[in-house]
Amino acid sequence: MENINWKEFGFGYTKTDYNVRCQFRDGKWGQLEISSSDQINVHIAATGLHYGQQAFEGMKAFRGPDGKVRIFRLDENGKRLQNSCNGIMMAKMSLELFEEAILKAVKLNARWIPPYESGASLYIRPVLFGNGAQVGVNPASEYTFAVFVMPVGPYFKEGFKPTDYVVYREYDRAAPQGTGTFKVGGNYAASLQAGTRAHNEGYSAVLFLDAKEKKYIDECGPANFFGIKDNTYVTPKSESILPSITNKSLCQIAEDLGMAVERRRVAVEELADFKEAGACGTAAVISPIRKIVDADHQKEYVYGDEAGKVSLKLYETLRGIQYGTIEDKHNWNTIVEL
Ligand code: PLP
Ligand code: COI
Repeated sequence: MENINWKEFGFGYTKTDYNVRCQFRDGKWGQLEISSSDQINVHIAATGLHYGQQAFEGMKAFRGPDGKVRIFRLDENGKRLQNSCNGIMMAKMSLELFEEAILKAVKLNARWIPPYESGASLYIRPVLFGNGAQVGVNPASEYTFAVFVMPVGPYFKEGFKPTDYVVYREYDRAAPQGTGTFKVGGNYAASLQAGTRAHNEGYSAVLFLDAKEKKYIDECGPANFFGIKDNTYVTPKSESILPSITNKSLCQIAEDLGMAVERRRVAVEELADFKEAGACGTAAVISPIRKIVDADHQKEYVYGDEAGKVSLKLYETLRGIQYGTIEDKHNWNTIVEL
């Protein structure tokens, strides 16, 4: 596109041409609407504003060297949004309506999908919230769904260069039987104090431990954790983490590459056994970990200044599938007919 420096983008907001909206009223979802404004009407007594009845999703569209545009795991994101809606009692939409809205938003902003060579992609952000007046603590009867898109580069500015993470025991992101497995805004609000402190102290993100016992790894700020040892991909099983779609894909890729995969509780001390470690997610892709500092216990777990071989292979395979240079044998991509 004209005069766009695609390398400039991180995760700051960029206004694109159009967004797509839909309203739930009288027990049903209405027609998709297209808007070029990035403002939205919110009722002063909306439950989304007062009681956190809100959920969002995050996925990406990639322009391949063959010129095709692919959205990675659109259906999985739709199912996860439905699950978040169930979790906090919001009206959910059908997968068909979700997919139609996403495809519309991407097509209408086709000129904002970065070229292959840039290494950038188009981030897709759907959001759904209670937008009906309700002052007693009850679910709303009206909801707004909206989806906007914007070009993005790396989430952590170092990209694939390893960076540092920190464990603090005085903060929790989510309670054991709380909302940690749903992609709801309240979890992110709850992570801000710890995350901001981590950034101020020079870390990429916080490695949260399980809130109950503080013994096991939960997740890495806005990403899941994985460790590599003995040709095995190990990732935490926990009732308070977001089920990452990137992580699920990496488990499959690891298996396809002939590795063993273990999804189980991971004790903090096990960090010493991993040869490589990383954070993974739509925004983070794979962000390799250089070291994890456990400040309370005066311990450091060091993985090195360069990404390990296995992390690199996983990263290249994931990116290859997303950009269409490696066969998509599990049918993860939705091709966008522009
Ligand atoms: N964990 C949290 C808390 C997140 O916000 C995200 C981002 O979506 C992830 C993990 C990674 O999930 P996914 O790979 O589905 O993007
Ligand atoms: C994503 O990876 O899509 C996320 O939601 C991370 C984010 C909170 C920026």
